[in-house]
Amino acid sequence: MSEIGIGIVGGGYMGKAHSVAMAAVGAVFDTGLRPRLEMIAASSEDSAERYRRSFGFRRGTGDWRQLVDDPDVQAIVIATPQALHRDITEAAFARGKPVMCEKPMGASLADSEAMVAAAEASGAANMVAYNYIRTPASQFARDLIADGEIGTVTWFRGEHTEDFYADPSAPASWRTSGEANGTMGDLAPHMINAALALIGPVTSLIAEVETVHSERPGGKVDNDDQAQIMCRFANGAMGQMHFSRIATGRKMGYAYEVHGTRGAIRFDQEDQNALWLYRADGPEAERGFRKILTGPEHPDYLPFCQGPGHGTGYQDQIIIEARDFLRAIETGESVWPTFRDGLAVNRVVHAAMTSSRGKCWQDVPTDPSN
Ligand code: NAI
Repeated sequence: MSEIGIGIVGGGYMGKAHSVAMAAVGAVFDTGLRPRLEMIAASSEDSAERYRRSFGFRRGTGDWRQLVDDPDVQAIVIATPQALHRDITEAAFARGKPVMCEKPMGASLADSEAMVAAAEASGAANMVAYNYIRTPASQFARDLIADGEIGTVTWFRGEHTEDFYADPSAPASWRTSGEANGTMGDLAPHMINAALALIGPVTSLIAEVETVHSERPGGKVDNDDQAQIMCRFANGAMGQMHFSRIATGRKMGYAYEVHGTRGAIRFDQEDQNALWLYRADGPEAERGFRKILTGPEHPDYLPFCQGPGHGTGYQDQIIIEARDFLRAIETGESVWPTFRDGLAVNRVVHAAMTSSRGKCWQDVPTDPSN
């Protein structure tokens, strides 16, 4: 067992989640590498000092470049708004340091492509922080589909709906400006990543995005509030996805339904400890979706809790993610989703925005190396 100095850039919502995860992951998963909370960077010295004290880092800085340069920072987690992801990533990889970057990677497709190039040139571990697909239930769903338990998949329906901007008087912020910060750019990537993980590559799509509230206290809104995609997967399945930050009543509507020739699966993050499975066998009168509560038999559940049905939560997904990042660093092996896997999500988003502007179907370029 050896120590590794962790630097986290950003101490807001996700910076805190990653700090807590790095503090806990060694105990939960008995990892070979044990994180040391070395340094946290924020937008000012004052806020960095506040985060340092609350999360237990040794040092804080108002200059992320200092964090990246520091010899005792051996791995970096990026939890800032996306406009900064590329610069921090390129500086870290130029020094050969592993990076886990919050989704949706870059602030544009070009930024994301540059980030993949920097990652692969450096050879350092790289991962995109797609946490929701790491719940024990969603990991189990992925295994069931891959093992053919619901037969040939014919249909995928997914959504990511929340209501944090449903109130038109909620003030403007970094989230209401810039394409990569809108609903298609920022929320949709989680569910698109799930679709790619569960079903496989998307080959073509037609999409629409819409800004419902174009003015908010503090500024104009120049990105979308809600969005939808109709798509075709490489394996022939049809798909439909919708996304919203103004879906009144939905708090974490990350939900999907997958239909196959021998069964179906349903999942809703608002009930994240349950997976609904339908098997098209047995007497018709006894058929129906069964609610399966997650437990020690499901992926990554047991290290958190010995009791079935007791449940895991949001923070636990981030701890699983931290375990995977440490594993990539320790073994030198790629751990899904790498930056290149993240780029596949960005390509779908880019095609969707192009489709929405042109009001037509778009092919989604696939990556020959994926
Ligand atoms: P936030 O607004 O809560 O926090 C942003 C942090 O970035 C703040 O601590 C701020 O000090 C820091 N920051 C801003 N400019 C900086 C600079 N120049 N140097 C150093 N630090 C700077 O944002 P939030 O919600 O934590 O989002 C951060 C990232 O995480 C975004 O990429 C977002 O898309 C992603 N995200 C992911 C979620 C998930 O479930 N995986 C959920 C929410 C956000």
